[in-house]
Amino acid sequence: MVIGVPREIKKDEARVAITPEGARAARIHGHEVLIEASAGIGSGITDEEYKSAGAKVMRTAAEVWKTADMVVKVKEPLTEEFEFLRSNLILFTYLHLAAVRDITEMLIAKGTTSIGYETIELDDGSLPLLVPMSEIAGRLAVQVGSWALEAPNGGSGILLSGVSGVAPANVLILGAGTAGQNAIRIAAGMGANVVVVDINPNKLRYIDDIYRGGLTTLIGNAANIEAELAKADLVIGAVLLTGAKAPKLIKREHLKTMRPGSVLVDVSIDQGGIAETSRPTTHTDPVYVIDGVVHYCVANMPGAVPRTSTAALTNVTLPYLLSIADHGPIEAAKRDPALARGFNTYKGALTHPGVAEAFDLPLSELPLE
Ligand SMILES: NC(=O)c1ccc[n+]([C@@H]2O[C@H](COP(=O)([O-])OP(=O)(O)OC[C@H]3O[C@@H](n4cnc5c(N)ncnc54)[C@H](O)[C@@H]3O)[C@@H](O)[C@H]2O)c1
Repeated sequence: MVIGVPREIKKDEARVAITPEGARAARIHGHEVLIEASAGIGSGITDEEYKSAGAKVMRTAAEVWKTADMVVKVKEPLTEEFEFLRSNLILFTYLHLAAVRDITEMLIAKGTTSIGYETIELDDGSLPLLVPMSEIAGRLAVQVGSWALEAPNGGSGILLSGVSGVAPANVLILGAGTAGQNAIRIAAGMGANVVVVDINPNKLRYIDDIYRGGLTTLIGNAANIEAELAKADLVIGAVLLTGAKAPKLIKREHLKTMRPGSVLVDVSIDQGGIAETSRPTTHTDPVYVIDGVVHYCVANMPGAVPRTSTAALTNVTLPYLLSIADHGPIEAAKRDPALARGFNTYKGALTHPGVAEAFDLPLSELPLE
């Protein structure tokens, strides 16, 4: 199969869909890999590195899109890319179709087969192609939070780790899932005083066990959250209710009870955020202050570390990519139900229940028989 990787054109998107190591693996499987020139630059990968891995570097996006059997991307196709969608094309990328009607309609109209990273779902309901991005966002949350706590950046001027003879900062982490656990790891590693809140006692039990009393776990309820907000220097919002908006755990009136210069890093902002005062920000203008609380609400945090994000993304997408390329989309779907769930459209027929429901469009079965 010919696998094409165009350069991402969405604003602030510096990731690329495949690393040279991924391209090499595809070559070993007997596939041709076409990369648009400079596609890896934002992630610190040169065209030469792709060439050394056996990929062919193409001058334009059009050459990649038109020659490939399967186009692998990071973000959904943008309007400028609609002209390249066609009936004998497989598109493998983050799609998030339920939020964008025009792209859904375009994939249907063009007869394209599309598989969304975020809809590949294991039998236990987990989403393996989203996990690395939550890992990165969780770890980054502490890094950006400690930056925002520095006085010149609007924070209260406390060093997360403290120093000998001076207490460390208090870090409150709301949500102990993938992002929360990764935030805990960094905050605890830096020597902060960590409190973790979740509504799932099993998550708390696990963390309590791992950290052996090195931090405090609290069940999620309004009283616990209110009490801890008043003490926190850094609050990290990392809750998720699958398929729903994030619960507003921090009300406007809570801000006045918090220390001036304390920081909220709202990782859950892509689901609406955990504070009534959260609104999405960008990497170029990441923070704003309300009632003395510094809010950091960047909705695509992994975009700040494209070298790590690109490598972590390829790690999880590559096995699926190779299976689709080796066996063709339908045979690959027959072999792996998780991949089958990831099909959003097949030859233009809408095959994902969530997307069909979102737009009240007819749902078709993937032809697996
Ligand atoms: N901003 C970004 O760039 C970025 C990047 C990746 C992920 N995210 C977002 O981060 C959030 C967390 O993702 P995840 O992968 O860690 O999810 P996850 O499902 O692994 O964990 C969510 C946790 O929240 C807990 N929870 C749910 N409701 C709660 C409540 N009311 N109080 C306390 N805990 C509660 C759940 O029990 C679970 O442990 C999601 O909204 C995700 O979309 C954002």
